[in-house]
Amino acid sequence: MQHPPRTGEIVPAVAPTGRRSHLIDFEHYRELYARSIRDPEGFWAEQAESLSWFFKWVNVLDSSFPEGDVGWFSGGRLNVSFNCVDRHLATRSEQAAIIWEADEPGQHRVITYRELKHEVCRIANTLKSAGVMKGDRVVLYMPMIPEVAYTMLACARIGAVHSVVFAGFSAESLRDRIVDCGAKVLVTANEGLRGGRPIPLKAIADKAIQGLHQVHTVFVAKRTEADVPMVSGRDQWLHEAMERERRVCPTEWMAAEDPLFILYTSGSTGKPKGLMHTQAGYLLHASLTHKYIFDYQPGEIYACVADVGWITGHSYIVYGPLCNGATTVMFESTPLYPDPGRYWEVVERLKINVFYTAPTAIRAIAREGDEWVKKYDRSSLRVLGTVGEPINPESWKWYHGVVGEGRCPVVDTWWQTETGGIMISPLAHITDMKPGSATLPFFGVDPVVVDEQGVVQKGNGVSGRLCLRQPWPGMARTVFSDHRRYQDTYYTTYAGYYFTGDGCRRDEDGYYWITGRVDDVINVSGHRIGTAEVESALVANPLVAESAVVGVPHEIKGTGIFAFVVLNREAEGMRPQELEGVLKEEVRKDIGPFAAPDWFLFVEGLPKTRSGKIMRRILRKIGEHEYQELGNLTTLADPGVVDKIIEAHKDLVARN
Ligand code: WT7
Repeated sequence: MQHPPRTGEIVPAVAPTGRRSHLIDFEHYRELYARSIRDPEGFWAEQAESLSWFFKWVNVLDSSFPEGDVGWFSGGRLNVSFNCVDRHLATRSEQAAIIWEADEPGQHRVITYRELKHEVCRIANTLKSAGVMKGDRVVLYMPMIPEVAYTMLACARIGAVHSVVFAGFSAESLRDRIVDCGAKVLVTANEGLRGGRPIPLKAIADKAIQGLHQVHTVFVAKRTEADVPMVSGRDQWLHEAMERERRVCPTEWMAAEDPLFILYTSGSTGKPKGLMHTQAGYLLHASLTHKYIFDYQPGEIYACVADVGWITGHSYIVYGPLCNGATTVMFESTPLYPDPGRYWEVVERLKINVFYTAPTAIRAIAREGDEWVKKYDRSSLRVLGTVGEPINPESWKWYHGVVGEGRCPVVDTWWQTETGGIMISPLAHITDMKPGSATLPFFGVDPVVVDEQGVVQKGNGVSGRLCLRQPWPGMARTVFSDHRRYQDTYYTTYAGYYFTGDGCRRDEDGYYWITGRVDDVINVSGHRIGTAEVESALVANPLVAESAVVGVPHEIKGTGIFAFVVLNREAEGMRPQELEGVLKEEVRKDIGPFAAPDWFLFVEGLPKTRSGKIMRRILRKIGEHEYQELGNLTTLADPGVVDKIIEAHKDLVARN
């Protein structure tokens, strides 16, 4: 990322030809925000009235935040599926709840709230028939089809805890997650379909659970006509199992702090963590942010084109919008299929009002030319959003100017799997924007900037690391079965604060500019990957003695993966291209295709401190061609290593 300008140019919240917010104005936001920080309990108690409760809560907040022990709305009972489905039936049973946009253009399908209720209930009953009970974990390994949303809501309905595993993960990654959360039931599909290509999900799932007797039932949704082997006594077609079930199913009365789902995410060390989100606070945060940040109005068509396998899909395809009675689009395809005009063809055909995507997708289509956008009628668009990584000002301006014709605000939403919902973002039509800045905190979010030692940087015009000072309702409560790891990861780096792992700057106007991760996590096309995971996949191959992986700026992906590899004797005589092929395959197999390194450099040794710690900082600089700015090298065990790596890197650059 480039260093942001000191204050940046301002783009007014309301364009001359644009509309105003129907909710509040900026002054009102300021007041509400101040109140949410001064009196969080009062503020959130008022907001919680927007949910439907079986029982109201007794205490709004029970918290010992510095120890990472937080509970919201204790004593309250509600059901998330009731809030997202049943309570809308009186007024919007015939309204579209989900519009499913299939991979092949022009094949969308509308699911009304009434139909949604029926499907959710039938799957809920199906799960019950398979023995799933309150508190049990169910793993979903599914393509972007309506059944994935039905199944999530079905779990919520009966109090089961879902764990959605992104369908791009490998069999090994899937297996690790199933084992970690102890799921006995897996829901998958025969195949997925993306960009015209089938993905053999059932075959991967079979491999993942081979010999794993804990999984007694596998439900298989039928996405394509492909026949897949079914293990008798274990596997059932989902549609056949559903047919036998009733279309009504009572909603379990869940305690506010019962678990709702587990979602695995990568950190700087170790295996991915199963972050656990709970019921009431999560739902409130997801729905309130959806309403205010996108200025969502009843009857509008809202599209978040993320995958449901990531937190964005959980909060802003399924839970937030459905809780608000919105029409939410589920997009199965890719931004480039069948051509780079796909997004805007869908916007025109479905008359989308709010469109939410990632900077990597914006960059990929922007470079294909404006014609692909201008071909289609985008007059329905009111609000544009982005999420996943810092957006560079040029892409922001393209999105705002070309896609939104300067009429639509761009909400750059900063948040994380851990935060459950959006934390720093403009409110559409309310907050003045600056291209490249996530602007100001949402209600109840209290950001602090600290230096490396943890000293709080007061006032504006400061930079450092981003921490959060107050609990917020949507925050993850723990790491599944490892609360210690949760505390260690988020609350011990800077005592008293939750540490986000991101660097940031607060400019002269108090606006936040997120500069990216400061830990060993990298963000590749919005996919979060731990460098340690890629390294351990590489060293799992007998050709590799040692490896160090760093993130390096990449034109489309934002960050690309650069692997420095020390080879074993077994690799002698192999050509670099051949080696790269083998090692990429190794990573694909261990983690998933999206984690395959973009660049390899085969070196004789890695730069290490005398205590044996790899100095990734140096490798990152070399990967960025900044040979002169390597910083302090005096702690290196063998300074000669660095020169050799630089030579090898120069060679690599010259060859390409
Ligand atoms: C990391 C979290 C939040 C859903 C998708 C990613 C980066 C996210 C932004 C943004 C700059 C961003 C951060 C964060 N990030 N949104 N608008 N501007 N950076 O969730 O996989 O948990 O990744 O994504 O580095 O820590 P995630």
